[in-house]
Amino acid sequence: MSAFPTVEVVVYPHECDGSGRLQAVGAIALLERARWDALLRGAGIDVFTKSGVVSGTRHVSLAHLSAAAPGDVLRVVTRLADRATTTFTLHHRVTRVRDGVPVIEAELEFECIDRLGRPAPLPEGIVRALGAPGGTRQVRRVAVADGELAVEVRGNGPALLFVHGFPLDRGQWRHQLLGFTHWQRMAPDLRGFGDSAGVAVAVEGLTMRSYVADLIAVLDGLGIERVVLCGFSMGGYVAFEFWRRHADRVRGMILVDTRPEADSPEGQRARDEMEALLRREGNDAIAERMLPRLLSRTTLEAQPESAEQVRAMIGRASADGIAGALRAMRDRSDSRDLLGSITVPVLALGGAEDALTPPPVMAAMAAAIPGARFVEVAAAAHLAPLEQPLAVNRAVGEFLETLREDG
Ligand code: MLT
Repeated sequence: MSAFPTVEVVVYPHECDGSGRLQAVGAIALLERARWDALLRGAGIDVFTKSGVVSGTRHVSLAHLSAAAPGDVLRVVTRLADRATTTFTLHHRVTRVRDGVPVIEAELEFECIDRLGRPAPLPEGIVRALGAPGGTRQVRRVAVADGELAVEVRGNGPALLFVHGFPLDRGQWRHQLLGFTHWQRMAPDLRGFGDSAGVAVAVEGLTMRSYVADLIAVLDGLGIERVVLCGFSMGGYVAFEFWRRHADRVRGMILVDTRPEADSPEGQRARDEMEALLRREGNDAIAERMLPRLLSRTTLEAQPESAEQVRAMIGRASADGIAGALRAMRDRSDSRDLLGSITVPVLALGGAEDALTPPPVMAAMAAAIPGARFVEVAAAAHLAPLEQPLAVNRAVGEFLETLREDG
């Protein structure tokens, strides 16, 4: 029997907000109740204490897919998503029993802690009880010209490809990769970033076109013909180039905090200055320069973990990866003329406090794309998908719903 059999729990009033909807803290409490209940029916509630350890929560990612109200009965399916030396990750999929509507998708990472409060390797009894990680999350290495890109692939269904911004990696999509469970979600680390930091970068020759060639190689390698393409900022510049060259492989686009015009001469000079700073002072200096542009002041103050995640992403990138991306952005084509030719459904999405690609820029871009809609995300700057994942996932989820019928 699984350590965590499927259980049903009722939503308590105190887990809901003033408008009677399950809120984030309530959802975490509800998931904890569900885990205890599942342990009681499965491996036993003393499975940890018998082994002399306790488990502490290290990280929570939670996507609200639809509202739940007091008295709703929810079905909680729990599986082991990952297991490492001292940590393990559980994935919860929560649906409403009455109509099967998905309510929450969550991933929680736990650390085993011994009696002295130190991280401890997972005891054998717990490893046995948890079993082997299952599920469909995979980080695949897919062949591209002179190397292999790391690509996170989750779930099954029509394909949804996330392209990250500068100087980040697929980690910026952590909350989006957890949602949209009827879709196959894919997020590569572009060459020079994340787990693709080791892939060769020809700094002189890197262009938006080379990023697109890599993405095409990834899709071919995974056997995928058409995608909904979701690009953030630099990933949006890549998306324009993708449309220019391979429109037949795109069935929808989500353009997040991006802009169609090329760099101005002043902007190009700023790219060169940033490359000089990188070569002089390294990735940390780039992180310090980028953080206040990527995250709003409120996020920086209230969500220190998001700032840490951004620092870690920038720290993982190779210097050539960053320099190559700066040059590819500096020399990119103007895509304004392309906008009128985008014939697939488009959602444009941007943070209300974004100074890099402010709402008027995004709104004008959307207005130039036939039928496109612009959604402004409150309380976010540039990196809206990380700062306001619930609002972003809601808008993206609604957009994807409109695409589901046409396969
Ligand atoms: C990004 O977020 O990808 C970059 O800030 C875009 C840019 O610098 O033009």
